[in-house]
Amino acid sequence: MRNARFEGKVAVITGGSGGIGAAVARRLASEGAAVAIGYRGNKDAADALVDELAANGGRAIAVQADAADAEQTQALIDRVVTEFGRLDVLVSCAGIEHFDALENITPDDFDRVFAVNTRGQLFAVQHAAAHMGAGGRIVLTSSVSASKAFFGHTLYAASKAAVEAMVLNLSAELGEKGITINAIAPGGTATAMAVEYGAGYLHPELAGKTSLSDWLKTQVALKRLAEPSEVAAGYAFLASDDAAYMTGRTLQYDGGMF
Ligand SMILES: NC(=O)c1ccc[n+]([C@@H]2O[C@H](COP(=O)([O-])OP(=O)(O)OC[C@H]3O[C@@H](n4cnc5c(N)ncnc54)[C@H](OP(=O)(O)O)[C@@H]3O)[C@@H](O)[C@H]2O)c1
Repeated sequence: MRNARFEGKVAVITGGSGGIGAAVARRLASEGAAVAIGYRGNKDAADALVDELAANGGRAIAVQADAADAEQTQALIDRVVTEFGRLDVLVSCAGIEHFDALENITPDDFDRVFAVNTRGQLFAVQHAAAHMGAGGRIVLTSSVSASKAFFGHTLYAASKAAVEAMVLNLSAELGEKGITINAIAPGGTATAMAVEYGAGYLHPELAGKTSLSDWLKTQVALKRLAEPSEVAAGYAFLASDDAAYMTGRTLQYDGGMF
């Protein structure tokens, strides 16, 4: 029997065209939510996901919206409310990676990374919360990197650490409306992002001497990357009524990173 935690609810997922966001869309839809998938460039993947969810009996739409552009985020949220008549859940997954040494970081790099990972998540909350009532659920995305040092990872880590401070402080304001806001800090998860940037997590002394998968065996209790569906289960928990008394917190979802 279908688990119905999200029956009658409407969820918007930014960064839903791939990776963790797509897994969250599948999970929430499988539990009854109507979902809106926000994406930046991968229209084909977003459309294919909408077709997949519809074929499984779900209701879904895909909407192009650059998370770095607050006006596009507002248009995404407005479209969801127009299409489905309400908004219960925001899951913010849109994010970009960055690795570079201090001497190479430019002001443009700073603005580009923070525009998506930090500013983008704040304005998604602002626009979504305006349409939510009591019981609304907001889940943002941090990273294990917010609390663990890696070479050349300063910009990305700082952009995610700010998100943990955002949920902590916004929980007070949103609590007045009965809305919860939390973040997830995933560890390494098997997505396109991990394929492209995973090796960057190795200490420079280890570059070329070990593989990411061997290194993970020494860094993570569960000795492997997460599957996106495993991490999506954490997002679904925070987006559900099971997490009704949890707000302002960041859930570490990293397989036990040392
Ligand atoms: N994978 C990991 O190991 C890991 C670990 C910790 C945290 N995270 C975080 O988890 C989130 C999802 O990561 P992922 O691994 O699933 O990444 P991914 O496979 O690279 O997918 C990223 C998703 O975000 C979307 N996106 C990127 N920039 C966007 C923008 N400006 N506006 C709207 N959408 C945008 C992409 O859309 P298009 O493809 O349509 O452009 C795509 O759907 C990110 O916030 C990431 O920082 C990931």
